[in-house]
Amino acid sequence: MGEGSYITGLDIGTSKIVAVVARVTETTTEVTGVGIVPSVGVRKGVIVDIESAAAAIREAVKKVRAISGVEVKEVCTGISDGQIKSFKSTGAIALTTDTITQRDVDKVMETAGTVYVPLDKEIMHMIPVEYIVDGEGQIHNPVGMKGMRLEVNVQVVAGSSNTIQNVIKCCEMAGVKAADIVFNPLASSAAVLRENEKDYGAILIDIGGGTTDIVVFKNGAFMGAAVIDIGGNQFTNDIAVGLRLPVAEAERLKKAYGMATFPDEYFGEEITVTADMEERRISKSFITEIIKARSEELTGMIKDAILGIPGFSWQPWSVVLTGAVAELKGLEGLIASVLDLPVRIGTCQLSGIGDKIRGPMYATTVGLVSYTRKRYYEGSSSDTFTTGQYSMSKWFKGLVGKFFNK
Ligand SMILES: Nc1ncnc2c1ncn2[C@@H]1O[C@H](COP(=O)(O)OP(=O)(O)OP(=O)(O)O)[C@@H](O)[C@H]1O
Ligand SMILES: [Mg+2]
Repeated sequence: MGEGSYITGLDIGTSKIVAVVARVTETTTEVTGVGIVPSVGVRKGVIVDIESAAAAIREAVKKVRAISGVEVKEVCTGISDGQIKSFKSTGAIALTTDTITQRDVDKVMETAGTVYVPLDKEIMHMIPVEYIVDGEGQIHNPVGMKGMRLEVNVQVVAGSSNTIQNVIKCCEMAGVKAADIVFNPLASSAAVLRENEKDYGAILIDIGGGTTDIVVFKNGAFMGAAVIDIGGNQFTNDIAVGLRLPVAEAERLKKAYGMATFPDEYFGEEITVTADMEERRISKSFITEIIKARSEELTGMIKDAILGIPGFSWQPWSVVLTGAVAELKGLEGLIASVLDLPVRIGTCQLSGIGDKIRGPMYATTVGLVSYTRKRYYEGSSSDTFTTGQYSMSKWFKGLVGKFFNK
């Protein structure tokens, strides 16, 4: 791969589909095109109508092609839904030479990869948490060390085969190849988490339209994940049902008046809403009360999901919020008080026209680019990917330029 090659990230979200083209080098990422379209045919992170979703993807890709001038053929895309599971696996080998080589690392990862996965699931990632040499753990790269026994603890991420295959098919129908499929919040974390946060301990919470995705990092390594099947669309739905309003009007009111916590003066204030071409006056507090109740419920579910991640224990974690719901007024503070931890909203720093996609709702898209770039330049016994059959050789050979459209 030469200097200035291009990567395309494609985020197929429940609310929006975003394609981003970036020119990358070992040290830089410059966004040269962004194509955003409303999502169609996606429910709670899962493609439920392939033809409509493919048409929307084609539109996003067409836009990004026009802006960047790059002929996009392959994309790095992602998924996240309630079917995704992350779990631990271990591997061990006896060393035959006295200095550990990359081959030994590959071999021990292979033993960790012989893990039971249900027939309807496929492994998306195998991420080493630590290597252990002769009983000494917390090693990030054992190559060059001396020892007799090498072990590895890994986190495996597995997703539904159907969901993965549908994404591949949908991209194909849209005229692009899904060269990689990443677990969305891992991508988001690549865009917004700082290295020192991952070292000390960080929790990334991405609240999108359809799902709330959580990933946890400690000692610089990914240590577990959870996906909750609730996102911002549920908030809109609550307003629509509760106040008998069309979804579009409920969405408008949510963005205009929604608050996760709200001041007393909201009581009594009235606003005009429109339903069936008729205007009605309602108390503003109806909306905020619905949003507040849903925010409290979701925050409680987030806390339970975090506590349910195996190996999780309390420490001064940094919490970073992404997804468009992060912009809901008062949510950052509510999550901080319920988790009793500092919270910040994750924004992306990119050059070129990256300013357009700085907000937390673009963390996954930007992350798909950062994740792919990082994996390419930093080698990859750290990870794997599947299109169809889980391919060890692809993983071990490294990901030679296949995401890069010249
Ligand atoms: N200012 C705001 N306040 C509250 N909610 C908001 C705001 N702006 C956007 N949202 C909500 O955020 C949701 C969309 O989030 P996002 O764009 O991150 O979703 P997505 O990536 O398409 O979906 P997912 O990741 O769940 O598949 C919608 O429900 C939208 O109504
Ligand atoms: Mg999203």
